[in-house]
Amino acid sequence: MTGHLPILEIKNLSKSYGAVKAVNDVSIHVDRGEITGLIGPNGSGKSTFFDCSTGLARPDTGKIVLDGQDITGWSLNRIAREGRMLRSFQKTVTFKALDVEENLVIAGQMFTFPSIATTFGLGKMSRQRIQGLRERARDLIKMAGLWDVRHQPAGNLSGGQQKLIQFASMLMPEPKLILLDEPMAGINPKIIERVVDTILYANKSLGVSFLVIEHNIDVVTSICQRVIVLDQGAKLVEGLPQDIIQDRRVREAYLGG
Ligand SMILES: Nc1ncnc2c1ncn2[C@@H]1O[C@H](COP(=O)(O)OP(=O)(O)OP(=O)(O)O)[C@@H](O)[C@H]1O
Ligand SMILES: [Mg+2]
Repeated sequence: MTGHLPILEIKNLSKSYGAVKAVNDVSIHVDRGEITGLIGPNGSGKSTFFDCSTGLARPDTGKIVLDGQDITGWSLNRIAREGRMLRSFQKTVTFKALDVEENLVIAGQMFTFPSIATTFGLGKMSRQRIQGLRERARDLIKMAGLWDVRHQPAGNLSGGQQKLIQFASMLMPEPKLILLDEPMAGINPKIIERVVDTILYANKSLGVSFLVIEHNIDVVTSICQRVIVLDQGAKLVEGLPQDIIQDRRVREAYLGG
């Protein structure tokens, strides 16, 4: 039934901060199984667009349909807890004192179990479910290249490795769509390759769709099937990555022309 509907459809989204039109009447969609890029110069409204799409900020106008369901006006907590659409921030967040495997299991528990009692593993039923989460965690840890450090506290690992932990944690609740805000910012080229591989694995093998804000244009052209360009809060153009990077309007926007 919902097979042809996009996983995410946003219509006429606007958000002003005082006199600043951070996002100005932007409509986009993300197709199922697609990795869509969202690019644009600094201050063009990309993060604000994410904030408004995920309930962190309240848009002035706009309609948000996730997986065929109208979620306009839902709070950040309600959207996150439900686990279908997850969002990363530029800042990396891990449980520093817990080891890698525990980080992932906790992430799975927070979404999978609705109550405190079950979150902390009380009762027979949840022990079985936790075993399932542990198996999923181990698969994701292998895939993210963290197997050798799986019993180390997250806080002892590099920034890039923590980014991978965070990313693998986001896959625990089996989301359908992940919004990434500059996943490659501040990490070294070797880890960039790892994150790229992990995104592609999640996309191809787990069927997760992505909307990715990214300044690294090589990453954008290598992982995205379609790219949307924002400039001064408005959608400038969208299309295939190879066409977008050639587009005169896009070049001018980036050069501040
Ligand atoms: N909470 C806020 N309060 C006031 N102004 C804001 C707020 N968030 C964003 N803005 C303004 O909205 C505009 C868009 O900012 P936004 O952070 O969405 O851009 P961006 O495309 O993510 O930029 P960058 O590439 O630098 O991360 C900017 O002019 C910014 O100063
Ligand atoms: Mg931003």
